Amino acid sequence: MYKKVFALCLLISFGNVCSKVTIVEQALSYDDVLLVPQRSTVTSRRNVDTKTRLTKNIELNMPIVSSNMDTVTESTMAIAMAQLGGIGIIHRFNTIDDQVQEVRKVKRYRNAIIDEPLTIHYKCTIGQARELMKAEGIKGLLVINDTNILVGILTYRDIRFRPDETLLVENLMTPRKRMIVGTADISVAEAKILMVAHRIEKLPLVDNSGKVAGLITSKDIYIKSEFPSASLDQQGRLIVGAAIGVKEDSFERARALVEAGVDVLVIDIAHGHSTLALDTLKNVKTTFPHIDIIAGNVATAQGTRDLIEAGADAIKVGVGPGSICTTRITTGSGYPQLSAVIHCANEANKYDIPLIADGGIRYSGDITKAIAAGAATVMLGSLLAGTDESPGIPFIKNGKKYKVVRGMASFGANLGRKERVKGKQNMLDFVPEGVEALKPYKGSVVDTINQLLGGFYSGMSYCGVNSIRELRGNGIFVQITPAGTIESHAHDVQQLV
Ligand code: XMP
Repeated sequence: MYKKVFALCLLISFGNVCSKVTIVEQALSYDDVLLVPQRSTVTSRRNVDTKTRLTKNIELNMPIVSSNMDTVTESTMAIAMAQLGGIGIIHRFNTIDDQVQEVRKVKRYRNAIIDEPLTIHYKCTIGQARELMKAEGIKGLLVINDTNILVGILTYRDIRFRPDETLLVENLMTPRKRMIVGTADISVAEAKILMVAHRIEKLPLVDNSGKVAGLITSKDIYIKSEFPSASLDQQGRLIVGAAIGVKEDSFERARALVEAGVDVLVIDIAHGHSTLALDTLKNVKTTFPHIDIIAGNVATAQGTRDLIEAGADAIKVGVGPGSICTTRITTGSGYPQLSAVIHCANEANKYDIPLIADGGIRYSGDITKAIAAGAATVMLGSLLAGTDESPGIPFIKNGKKYKVVRGMASFGANLGRKERVKGKQNMLDFVPEGVEALKPYKGSVVDTINQLLGGFYSGMSYCGVNSIRELRGNGIFVQITPAGTIESHAHDVQQLV
């Protein structure tokens, strides 16, 4: 029903000047429509199939991606998202080294068997060990000698109350003779038996010569049973994406991220239908043909086509719909998100390339609408920003707890960037296209995602479908009036919660 595109072309003459003004259609956003309820065969919302595709080659077990914003996704959020079956995209507003470390933390987080555990030499100091644990976000190090032979293990508990940073690792470690170790070819099931029998949380693995060959931790085994839908790579590690820009260090950044094991790169530029974005995409794709690349952001069929033909493996759609975006106000440009998703999805479908609806999701029902409009996944920013897993710490204001969310083109985000990158303080030339805001603190992101998915599963049932595959691009929408919008929300009551 949206295909009714009307073009109004006005020829306006001002003396010799003749301009052609075009209004392409009256475009719609999530709040302008509802999905028409259909007969359902779903008996329980738990039975719906939420498998979907992030990119041409990457599958997810649920359709939510956390945004590459510096108040939304670093390793902690990315770990949580991948454990829940989605994925997080590590932002690029940091040094290459910092971003690489964040990717490494995710890749290291969950291995039934960690092939290359972190080690430290027995002659290093406790201060060095503490620093390494902090940088890598881990609580134990295998201790080795000059020839990589395992000589002990040092855990955070060993050093927690030891203020003397100059003590040597060998003085506080548990020595090899008091350790339980496994062989390099041990199975996870055998390891679990050993660990339960000896009440240990870490089982180092050694080869025939006594060199470190791996590590299994009880946390890894526990996580495996706790998060059966986790998004994993072929080696059983959590998957993670990372953003790169289109200027300066983007190529070097891409290379470092690929070397760190990133699963997917996002070319992050507000106006993705640009020569800069297309050239970066072509270059990165040619150099790293085995890495899937998400390109965007666009809002038109032409933009989608150009990016796909330049090598994109997924398209990110959204120009200005985000909660913290002011692009549309600052520049006058953008496209209401539901219509943008429909147009871009129609084009991307011709190439079998999945689409990410990025920004403007306010309720779980918007996820259903975005996917019914043709998206394969949705990207969330501020809905996830108030959670424990987002970067930054909560604070109290007027007795209430908040975290901060900020647009990546906001004044604050840019100020930090300029200072860091160029040592510049003068911001007079900077025109913001985003804002900084407070988000009420929400606790664990697991609860937020569960609420969103619960609503989305019900939404699928109202649409009469059992899977994302059936829902995607098959929505039957009804356009509503402002009265319909009022009717849709709780009304004429004093709401308690
Ligand atoms: P939500 O609505 O989920 O949107 O918070 C997140 C998305 O907004 C985009 N983004 C921006 N857009 N100016 C913009 O116009 C900005 O400063 C800005 N920062 C983030 C981005 O696509 C993100 O995923």
